[in-house]
Amino acid sequence: MTHARQHPIQVVAHRGASEEAPEHTLAAYKKAIEDGADALECDVRLTADGHLVCVHDRRVNRTSNGRGAVSALELADLAALDFGSWKNGEEAPDWEYRPEDREDTSVLTLERLLELVADSGRRVEMAIETKHPTRWAGQVEERLLLLLKRFGLDAPESAAESPVRIMSFSARSLHRVRAASPTLPTVYLMQFVSPRLRDGRLPAGVRIAGPSIRIVRNQPLYFERLKQAGHQVHVWTVNEPQDVDLCVDLGVDAIITNRPRAVLRQLGR
Ligand code: G3P
Ligand code: CA
Repeated sequence: MTHARQHPIQVVAHRGASEEAPEHTLAAYKKAIEDGADALECDVRLTADGHLVCVHDRRVNRTSNGRGAVSALELADLAALDFGSWKNGEEAPDWEYRPEDREDTSVLTLERLLELVADSGRRVEMAIETKHPTRWAGQVEERLLLLLKRFGLDAPESAAESPVRIMSFSARSLHRVRAASPTLPTVYLMQFVSPRLRDGRLPAGVRIAGPSIRIVRNQPLYFERLKQAGHQVHVWTVNEPQDVDLCVDLGVDAIITNRPRAVLRQLGR
């Protein structure tokens, strides 16, 4: 069954235009904005000295020339690393790191990313994911809301108006966000469907479901339940054309993809 959407499907650049440029770098987000993405997804972690940086893994080993956990490194340590060269070669045939691109491939703070969005000259939404927040017992959410406040983004008049939403696999993290900022929309991410949520309910106060594309492909009945319960559904990570078609046919609300340009083209935009 196809569900009518109130808005066109939103195309969200996952870690930036991360198929074509190194994930979570300024280069990847600039590309996503140029490509016309409606929103940018990013993962945030706290450094040892309390800065929110956009890094997916617990450690920097995969995406930089450094080693160690983000939480054990200070921002200055991270700033000395190269987050771009790992993408050279086969991973992205069109991508090549050049020394003059230094700023574009340095560690990206969430603050710098919010500045980029603010300066983009058009509405670009943000889908910010808190990673492993329990380790910091609320500090990730606290810092995040303080930073959003500086940009006037922490307390939208309504969830529908908000250009920012907070996503997490942790219901506790989303609860902390809602307790501090009740109008900020939250997205409950799911890698599998927990038995207690099979009827389409989400953790209290959450209105947006974030299932993986695998759930959507394999559990169509569960998708129906989410829609019947009145939730928006934002699906990740949708890179294959046939999965984009499936999302369109079903009537999902947002497609989170590493290939925003290709998905926009497929949607005729
Ligand atoms: O957008 C949600 C998705 O990013 C969750 O998975 O591992 O890519 O952060 P991951
Ligand atoms: Ca993520």
